[in-house]
Amino acid sequence: MLWEVPFPELNFSVPYVPTPRHVAREMLKLAEVGPGDVVYDLGSGDGRIPIMAVEEFGASRGVGVEIRSDLCQIAWEEVKKRGLEDKVEIVNADALDVPLGEATVVTMFLLPDLMELLRPKLERELRPGARVVSHEYVMAGWRPVKVVRIEDEHMYHTLILYEAGKSF
Ligand SMILES: C[S@@+](CC[C@H](N)C(=O)[O-])C[C@H]1O[C@@H](n2cnc3c(N)ncnc32)[C@H](O)[C@@H]1O
Repeated sequence: MLWEVPFPELNFSVPYVPTPRHVAREMLKLAEVGPGDVVYDLGSGDGRIPIMAVEEFGASRGVGVEIRSDLCQIAWEEVKKRGLEDKVEIVNADALDVPLGEATVVTMFLLPDLMELLRPKLERELRPGARVVSHEYVMAGWRPVKVVRIEDEHMYHTLILYEAGKSF
């Protein structure tokens, strides 16, 4: 399990595969992100989702949680380049260890085994009305509010929207 790995950077159980930007935009649209939202991306890679949430959708804050420190470094450089240090936070940690109670929107592109571990934490910590958008994989036991499929020249992307209080 991830939290037993002494060197988290060496754990590649969920590989880094960035969400194409046009798909990330659809994820944030699906969650209806806007002013007042606090958007957490669990496993945030290069930080593109929290950055986009703030820059393009006017979210109050974006938080990227990423276990790999090299990716956190890349994300933080991008945050600084765009002058978003006061609105975007990059947390180098295991998503299972980070409090999520302030999130109004959670995004993820993770594998089902990690999602399964995150499920009880999300159920405990998210407030009613908080939205969760998963790229590609369903959360077992939750009822989707909406499912969207996007086709691009390479592949299909499936986006699944959940809402605390309705889906779980
Ligand atoms: C498929 S990538 C998605 C990256 C980004 N969310 C995006 O959509 O562009 C999954 C990311 O999750 C990170 N990751 C894997 N396990 C994690 C964990 N337990 N906590 C935080 N991040 C994790 C990986 O290092 C990787 O960067």
